Amino acid sequence: MIDGKFAILAIESSCDETAAAVVLEGRDVRSNVISSQIDIHKAYGGVVPEIASRHHLDNVNWVCEKALADAGASMDDIDAIGVTYGPGLVGALLIGLATAKAYALATGKPLIGVHHIHGHICANYIEHKELEPPFMALVISGGHTNIVEVTDYNELHVLGGTRDDAAGEAFDKVARVLGLGYPGGPLIDKIAKEGNPDAVEFKRVFLEKGSMDFSFSGIKTGVLNYVNSEKQAGREINIADVAAGFQQAVLDVVVAKTIDAALSLNKDKIVVAGGVAANSRLRGMLSDACEKHGLKLYHPSPILCTDNAAMIGCAAYYKYQAQGADDLTLDAIPNLPL
Ligand code: KG4
Ligand code: ZN
Repeated sequence: MIDGKFAILAIESSCDETAAAVVLEGRDVRSNVISSQIDIHKAYGGVVPEIASRHHLDNVNWVCEKALADAGASMDDIDAIGVTYGPGLVGALLIGLATAKAYALATGKPLIGVHHIHGHICANYIEHKELEPPFMALVISGGHTNIVEVTDYNELHVLGGTRDDAAGEAFDKVARVLGLGYPGGPLIDKIAKEGNPDAVEFKRVFLEKGSMDFSFSGIKTGVLNYVNSEKQAGREINIADVAAGFQQAVLDVVVAKTIDAALSLNKDKIVVAGGVAANSRLRGMLSDACEKHGLKLYHPSPILCTDNAAMIGCAAYYKYQAQGADDLTLDAIPNLPL
């Protein structure tokens, strides 16, 4: 216990961030350490799983020790260990999970396995102390694009997801086509501000009527075809216009489906989570749409949008209250369903 509150040491290593945090009773974050590998993977234009695992291994111990030190705590003060066990890169997940299990075994403290997407949604409980379920959540990241009905802290119902690329993945791939660099989301966000979203129009893919699923691979191919045909015709490409047009095509669909989901299931709150939730245009569009329909909008600050362990500590707390601890046989599950 720290200050009389239940304290969780949380670990996250599902992709290219090695992160650890100390979180009290779900919402009181005492430390949040993130060691990012972005600069290492930049050279390859994307995350290389094997390299990610090796760097997690190098970093996980000092990241956990720093999380404890930043919180002014020792292992004796910690009541439970929370850890992401899926979905994600299996080699990457295993490093965090093995570390969490080692702490749990050595100290006899409970182990709590967390679903990464549950963590992303919980980032909003940290940011907005008054927020409680029920609400409609949009989880939009490099690995996921889901509309999730949240009826209680541990009751999540996936209403729709992507049938091919995740939205963040499409941002990253299009940025590569445009020669912008990696990760592409923040770079497209920035350059699109200087472009005209109506100058180049890309197809909006809504799928069947009423479907809450997404498909972004067509828009990505559309950008590639546009760039190639302009190059062949010897015309100069206005990168800002293409970035703005692509971003608008993705976000028009995302915003329309999220608002529809909230209205059709009588939710008065929309919660956004995941790396792409940091996108300024998405925030602006959702904020306008929510105001128009009388809905309240919540999103975390950018540092809690992308991968971090504070959100995992929050999710672990609520899961532990409802379901108790996991067994030490808990395994990493790369495609763990919600
Ligand atoms: O949640 P996250 O850190 O990792 C996953 O769980 O996937 O999300 C990373 C993704 C990347 O695809 C990155 O390009 C995207 O989030 N991203 C953004 C922005 N900031 C990060 N996409 C659009 N606009 C942004 N400002
Ligand atoms: Zn994530």
